[in-house]
Formats: sequence, C-alpha cells, structure tokens
Amino acid sequence: MPLSVIIGAQFGDEGKGKIIDYLSEKADIVVRFNGGDNAGHTVVVGNKTYKLHLMPSGAVQKKICCLASGVAINPKTLLEEIELIEKEVGKVKLFVDPRAQIIMPYHLLLDGASEEKKCKKIGTTKKGIGPCYADRASRQGIRFSEFINKNKFYERLKEVVPLKNLELKAFGLKQKNAEALFKELSKMSYKLKKYQMDVSKYLHVSLKNGKEVLLEGAQGFFLDNDFGTYPYVTSSHTGSAGAFMSAGIAYHECRVIGVSKAYCTRVGAGPFPTEINGSLASAIREKGNEYGTTTGRPRRVGWLDLPMLRTASRICGFTEIALTKLDVLSGLKEIKVSTAYKIGGKKVKEVPADTFLLEKCKPMYVRLKGFELSHELKSFYDLPSEARSYIKLIEKNVGIRVRMISYGPERKQTLIKAQE
Ligand code: GDP
Ligand code: IMO
Ligand code: MG
Repeated sequence: MPLSVIIGAQFGDEGKGKIIDYLSEKADIVVRFNGGDNAGHTVVVGNKTYKLHLMPSGAVQKKICCLASGVAINPKTLLEEIELIEKEVGKVKLFVDPRAQIIMPYHLLLDGASEEKKCKKIGTTKKGIGPCYADRASRQGIRFSEFINKNKFYERLKEVVPLKNLELKAFGLKQKNAEALFKELSKMSYKLKKYQMDVSKYLHVSLKNGKEVLLEGAQGFFLDNDFGTYPYVTSSHTGSAGAFMSAGIAYHECRVIGVSKAYCTRVGAGPFPTEINGSLASAIREKGNEYGTTTGRPRRVGWLDLPMLRTASRICGFTEIALTKLDVLSGLKEIKVSTAYKIGGKKVKEVPADTFLLEKCKPMYVRLKGFELSHELKSFYDLPSEARSYIKLIEKNVGIRVRMISYGPERKQTLIKAQE
C-alpha cells in the first residue's frame, strides 16, 4: 500500500518513533502531520539513540522528510534537529509546508503562565503548543511562508505583537517588542527559507507516481483536541482524519497503524482508568524507562485498556496494531488487561465521550498468566504461548490484527506476525 498512517493509540509515547523508523526502510517520504516539539520520538539503531521532537523519524533512514500544514514549528528546535541529523546521518532532505504555524517566544511564555494560573493543571510540556494553535484558530498566527519572507514577517509581527502584549500584560509578563523579535528571529527565518514546499501538492504528485508515503502522528489518540480526554489533551488532531487534513491530501486507501504499548502510560494530568501505583508501577516504569522524552517527567503507568484501543480503532479505522514494549511485561507473574468498564453498574466497551464519566469508570479486568521473553526472537512463534495468548486476546477484543510486535527499543527487535 503506497500510503500508511501511523497513529498513537493511547496517550502518546507508544513507541511511534521506533515503528516509523522500522517502516521507513521501505518508504520514500515521511511526513509529520501534527503537533510540535511537545513530541519526543525515539529511534534506536545499534548503540545510537536519536530523540527527535520535530523532524520526522524517517530522517534517521535518510528519507525525504516533510512537515505538513498542521505542524507547529519552533524554528530553534527545527534548526537544532537539522544540525543533529546532518552531523550524525547526512544531508537532510526536508520540505516544510508554507501553511505550518510558527511557535513564537510569546507562545512559550503564555503556555507556562496559563498553566500556573489554572486550578486544574493539564501538565503541558510548556512548549507553547496550546497558545500557538489558539492563535491559528483566532487568525493571529504566523505561518511558515510569512516567517521566511522578511517584509511579510515584519508586517505580521507589527499586527500581532500588540495583541499578544495584551495577554502578556494580563499575566503580569514582560511585553514583547516587534522590532526586537524580528531581530531575534530573522536569522533563523533566513536559514529555513530553502525548505519551503507546498507539501500538499508534493504528496499528491508523489502518490500518483507510486511513491511510498508514511504519515507520522505525534501524541496519541486520547490527546486529540476533540476526541481525547478533554480538557486534558493537546491542541492538535492526533487521529487519522487529522493526518489527511494536515497533509492536504484526499482520502486514500491506506494502512492505518495504531501503535499501542502492551500496557499503558500517560504523562501529564487527566483520567487514566487502568492506572496502577506502588511498587508494581515503579518496577514497570524502571524496566520500560518510562520517563518523558521531551520533559523527563516520570510517566504514569497502567494496564492495557482495550476500551481505549477499541474506540481509537473505530474512529481512526486502524487496519492493524503495532504492539510495543512486550518485553517490559516479561517476568511478571500475572498480567491484567481491561476489556470493558463499569459505569454506574453498567458495562461499557468504549471510552465515554464525557471526560467526567471516564473519571468514574471502573475497569473490568481479565487476568492472564505472565511470561518470560528471551532477548532474541526470530518469529512470532518464538514467543511463549502465554505471550501469544495475550496478543490473541487483544486481537479478539479489538477486532483488529496485531501485525507488528516490538520487544525492545532497537530497530531489529521487531517481529512481523503473518495473517492467520
Ligand atoms: P513515541 O513518542 O511514541 O515515539 O515514543 P517515545 O520515544 O517517547 O517513548 C517510547 C520509549 O520506549 C522510547 O524510549 C523507545 O526507545 C522505547 N521503546 C520503543 N519500543 C520499545 C520496546 O518494544 N521495548 C522497550 N523496552 N522499549 C521500547
Ligand atoms: P509524543 O509524540 C506524551 C501531553 C502533555 C500534556 C498534554 C498537553 O512523544 O507521543 P501540550 O504540551 O501538548 O499542550 O500538552 O499532552 N503530551 C504528550 N504526552 N507524548 C507526547 O508526544 C505528548 N505531547 C503532549 O504531557 O498532558
Ligand atoms: Mg514520545
């Protein structure tokens, strides 16, 4: 299939970076379609680890990389990652859509300040994501095409900065000066100028010419601005419909790969029905190295939640699941998995639309015998029967095939399960 969409099926950090890197081998173009440098995607190849926040993970496999219209770009992060890739991998082949939004220094300030004033904190990454997308919606954003055009950039700053100063002032923050911002950022805008390309048109032509394209999601489906656990969400669309909208391509028949850990984690606030605490949570956190790639915060840990996978799969149209971090469960005596929730005495099989109801959900668990995994596995059938039963249970409950199984951070620690 020439087009694949890779979506985080949980609360982010499912191992999308690893799966995208693996799939990139056979791809021509890898496109980041949402979010900004709030994301942290890890790619491990041999003894090298790359933590990418903006550059698509396909950069490690030297593929053509695109940032689509729906991405929020912090120019400083982008330049740092271009430099990193050029130093470690080789010349970047990057195209940035003119419509992508720029994260400005005042967005970072406003993100931090509004979090501080909220009585119920979201635990944002403080990368300016919310304020940047809010500006896009209220037409106060600065797009990539404006940012890289000296005159236009200056003009936009003159229009927008007085409005932003009203907000900065309300938060008791130091106001910004359009000239100073122009001076501070125009060197970066000059360096990024050469990457502009209408990604929508480019992808249209590439797909027509039979190129293999991967659309790389950031965050996870339950952080989607509409379908996630609102208000404990990010500010972009993280699902498959968002991928098409952002990339600017009409719906195509495609693989939609939902990436899910064999358990579940969340970083930041918000409901987490299957969350576990205490020594078991600590043991899983340590074994899985569950610390945020972007902020270093410890991730909250819980059992796999199948109502979440079912809901994400229905709305995103998953054609397959990539199950990651199976190795982290190795050695546990017993594994629990939530197959449904109880809300007010009623059994429900999907995530309720109301976050306040989700907060009241009691997971209904199935208990399975644990397993021990060895470090080197050649095929699905090398997995112990208990691990295979776990995978079968997921497939049966979600109604989708698990096609990829990841049992370690390394590119080669990946199994492909044949269709049965
Ligand atoms: P992403 O945001 O979805 O790309 O995920 P992150 O990179 O933020 O977090 C996933 C973490 O798990 C990274 O440290 C990966 O190197 C690591 N990882 C990915 N797959 C596996 C796996 O199968 N087993 C183990 N042990 N680690 C994995
Ligand atoms: P990747 O792509 C995990 C979470 C934050 C916070 C909420 C809103 O690596 O999976 P934001 O800064 O976006 O306004 O924060 O979303 N969050 C993530 N959690 N992985 C991510 O990205 C995340 N990006 C944002 O912790 O709860
Ligand atoms: Mg991450």
